[in-house]
Amino acid sequence: EKQGFKHFMLKEIYEQPGVVRACLEAYFTNTEKSSESPINLGLPTDFYADLAQIHIVACGTSWHAALVGKYLLEQLAGISTQVHYASEYRYAPSPLTPNTLIVGVTQSGETADTLAALAMEKERRQGQEPQYQARLLGITNRPESSLGLMVPHIINTLAGIEIGVAATKTFIAQLMAFYALALDLAARRQTVPLEKLVEIITGLRQIPKEIEATLESQESLTEHLAHDFAETKDFIFLGRGINFPIALEGALKLKEISYIHAEGYPAGEMKHGPIALLDSKVPVVAIAVPGSVYEKVISNAQEAKARDSRLIGVTPVKDGEAAEIFNDLLPVSSVDELLSPILTVVPLQLLAYHIAARRGLDVDQPRNLAKSVTVE
Ligand code: F6R
Repeated sequence: EKQGFKHFMLKEIYEQPGVVRACLEAYFTNTEKSSESPINLGLPTDFYADLAQIHIVACGTSWHAALVGKYLLEQLAGISTQVHYASEYRYAPSPLTPNTLIVGVTQSGETADTLAALAMEKERRQGQEPQYQARLLGITNRPESSLGLMVPHIINTLAGIEIGVAATKTFIAQLMAFYALALDLAARRQTVPLEKLVEIITGLRQIPKEIEATLESQESLTEHLAHDFAETKDFIFLGRGINFPIALEGALKLKEISYIHAEGYPAGEMKHGPIALLDSKVPVVAIAVPGSVYEKVISNAQEAKARDSRLIGVTPVKDGEAAEIFNDLLPVSSVDELLSPILTVVPLQLLAYHIAARRGLDVDQPRNLAKSVTVE
């Protein structure tokens, strides 16, 4: 069933272009002119009425997808959004607010903490005034799961079954769900001009091809790079803005399957402590894509280089000048900054995979981890 791939994880990484295509076909169905929104998530209109804020609960990789979601929901749809670790939120929820959407993100639909956080919200809102009633939405890869039974509405992430314990294609599909949700809200609330919406959607339709190109160019690059990290003990991943969560995700992938200590940081926070960790033994992966924080990330990366760290850039290759500061490049094509996380995560998945495979580890079944965490 691995279809020639050495591990399920690698096969699933390669399935990502198809997953994005499936999500595009399912969510972006409305013809752009004929309706209020070009997106069709099958959610009732009262779901969106007077929406004042959003709370998202999730764990692990799903929590990272939620952070990208927060960026999109705030920057595109203008809705204040908070992302919570489900394990924290269930015991210390935010004060009750009216007209609040609660979103639970869990690919398995079985994560105990996420389910408990949603159940807690549902219960404490029962018997309150109508505006305080729970508006619950689930984002899951398994609509038939316990999550599916608990919430009235689901965005089905269409990644197909994922066998590797490290989430890859389900993460990409969660990102697609958040693009659809944020763009749908932006269209209905008219927070983004229609031309801009169409431009973003047109860009999204190009993404499957861009992932294919990234996979093609990165496979041997990451495999080659993995040779150099046989003895590496620590890694730092830096990103800013919409790519900060991707730095977290790159670090998590590496930790999970290669057992190398890794930290993801918002690049601007380095100087507030973690920079003390840096020396020639600690490689730094910086995600630097053109857009609102590009120069900032480059200058943060330069600070790391000045501490002798080997600097690996996930950055468009065309940009010769900036690219020169990196010791190694994992090039991605230049796309709208808003869409970049779907591309920048791919080389990080491959890098983690090849480092773990190189170390001879059980990539699909890493120690101490289970595919779904059904206990607290
Ligand atoms: C990371 C990973 C875990 C899960 C987390 C949540 O690769 O697989 O961090 O993302 O356990 O799982 P779900 O999404 O099923 O709630």
